[in-house]
Amino acid sequence: MTTATAEFAKRLDQTAEDTEALLAKLLSDELLPDEIARPKRLMDAMRYSSLNGGKRLRPFVVVESSAVFGVPHEAALLVGAALECIHCYSLIHDDLPAMDNSDLRRGRPTLHKKTDDATAILAGDGLLTLAFDIVTRDEIHKDANVRLLLTRALARASGIGGMVGGQILDLAGEGRFGDREPVDVAKLQQMKTGALLRYGCIAGAILGQSSPKEYQALDDYGRALGEAFQIADDLLDVEGDAAALGKPAGADAALGKTTFVTQLGIDGAKQRVRDLLARADSALSIFGTKGDVLRAAARFVAERKN
Ligand code: IPE
Ligand code: IPE
Ligand code: MG
Ligand code: MG
Ligand code: MG
Repeated sequence: MTTATAEFAKRLDQTAEDTEALLAKLLSDELLPDEIARPKRLMDAMRYSSLNGGKRLRPFVVVESSAVFGVPHEAALLVGAALECIHCYSLIHDDLPAMDNSDLRRGRPTLHKKTDDATAILAGDGLLTLAFDIVTRDEIHKDANVRLLLTRALARASGIGGMVGGQILDLAGEGRFGDREPVDVAKLQQMKTGALLRYGCIAGAILGQSSPKEYQALDDYGRALGEAFQIADDLLDVEGDAAALGKPAGADAALGKTTFVTQLGIDGAKQRVRDLLARADSALSIFGTKGDVLRAAARFVAERKN
């Protein structure tokens, strides 16, 4: 293992641990001001799908893009936790029978299998809403305008022109709503997956009140990382196995999803990941060695086995 890779692995583990502890606190039974009650069934469901699992790559990119600018760790972690809440909600809804209809997530039964569809829908709604409660908190930045920019960017990444929009294009591409139409896979993937990962990267630039050039660099890096991440996910769906993935393999073909694997073949999709990796790498050049951990993160995304 190279030094940068070992450093990356250590830091990813640390962020995963920190995120876990923070999410456990945010999802505790303790009421916030103005909350009337935290119903047990809802809290148990939200905790089931947010704690004890996941690579925590999205909080990681928030923490590392923030570290480039010397942003306080606690502030970055809160933004990372908010982003992870959106991600976990997106997975709960993605697995529902009305969407990808999946029984296994993070090595365990999906939430709707463990409970029921209504509980899973509401747990997702609860996580989505909690994310926006977290990202506006005073501890994140003393300047309310910075918090506003972070919040608006999170809404844009999560909503119509981001993850939610991408998910409906994904289902439409299967022919779920009528005839199958030609799919713009790059656009679909930039939206359903890329937008949240890119948000994690620009969050550091927003928190760190970076120069426009530094913002652009993290934006370019985040876009390349996000696209590479989803292509790697599609490749793992073909080449991986459920035991390593913690979720079913072969699901995309069974559902008739259009991906870069179906459009370019396995080798073509792998080449596209390599091209994106090079793009991610060159985007970071303005940060010099300060970009090393993010560079290693891009390699991890391309080479990961789960
Ligand atoms: C899975 O994301 C969903 C996609 C966007 C492809 P991850 O592979 O990051 O899932 P976890 O959080 O590690 O379980
Ligand atoms: C999921 O894409 C993207 C989101 C959840 C927004 P996939 O449907 O490919 O994710 P997996 O493979 O189920 O994790
Ligand atoms: Mg899906
Ligand atoms: Mg899915
Ligand atoms: Mg997938």
